[in-house]
Amino acid sequence: MSKHQGINTLSLIFMGVTSLFFSAAQAADKTGQAVVQEVCANCHATGKDGAPKIGDVTAWTQHSKNGLIKLTENAIAGIGKMPAHGGQSNLSDLEISRAVAFMVSFGNAADPKKPYASPTSITGEKLVQERCVACHEEGKEGAPRIDDFNAWKPRLQKGVDGLVQSAITGHKAMPSRAGMANLSDTDLRNAVTYLVVQSATYKPK
Ligand code: HEC
Ligand code: HEC
Repeated sequence: MSKHQGINTLSLIFMGVTSLFFSAAQAADKTGQAVVQEVCANCHATGKDGAPKIGDVTAWTQHSKNGLIKLTENAIAGIGKMPAHGGQSNLSDLEISRAVAFMVSFGNAADPKKPYASPTSITGEKLVQERCVACHEEGKEGAPRIDDFNAWKPRLQKGVDGLVQSAITGHKAMPSRAGMANLSDTDLRNAVTYLVVQSATYKPK
């Protein structure tokens, strides 16, 4: 690859990376009410397994003592018998935030435009080395390889934001959240950015 092409490659990535900081909520984001009705109510309507019941002020007050951010973090990462992302790994952190706000406020809160919390427990590099390389090193089932920018280039047309979205919802043989429902959107964003930058700057030893 010539020096000139290398620069173009990197500016393409950074355009994508910058655009992700400015992008508004995706049109497809569900409202808090919709998420609660479709997913959370399965346990929170009846109090299954000790889930705080919708409308139960005492129960929610007890759970909320560490604040809304902590509450949201726990719903994203999972806690006790509460599954990560409510057991629906394709829900975004924003949708989880909205659902939590809906339940805690008994339907009165406006849907937030940004997630309240995106716990980051792990760097992009660490996550990629520990988990994503299982498929992205050898190109298992058609996964774009970490050393092959040509495989990433056409995919980058949807922007880094679009790639992060694919990693959240899953894409063909790529499982939703790489099969780890407790990863936050931020974790996945860091991993996707790392994968793409690695592929663009890869030099054979
Ligand atoms: C499979 C059942 C189940 C589903 C589905 C479910 N929850 Fe829960 N949830 C629980 C249980 C059980 C607890 C109590 C966990 C505990 O305190 O150990 C809980 C607790 C919580 C808490 C309190 C956490 C804390 O810090 O005390 C929040 C917030 C929450 N759920 C949000 C949600 C949201 C949002 C959804 C929908 C996206 C959802 N839950 C879907 C079972 C469920
Ligand atoms: C079980 C194997 C597997 C694991 C683990 C895996 N991937 Fe993938 N990934 C794939 C496959 C297969 C594809 C190609 C799917 C397709 O055809 O678009 C893919 C595609 C992708 C894409 C491109 C999606 C698109 O829209 O074109 C991204 C981004 C991605 N993976 C990110 C990750 C990240 C980040 C991790 C680690 C947190 C990870 N993957 C772990 C199998 C995997």
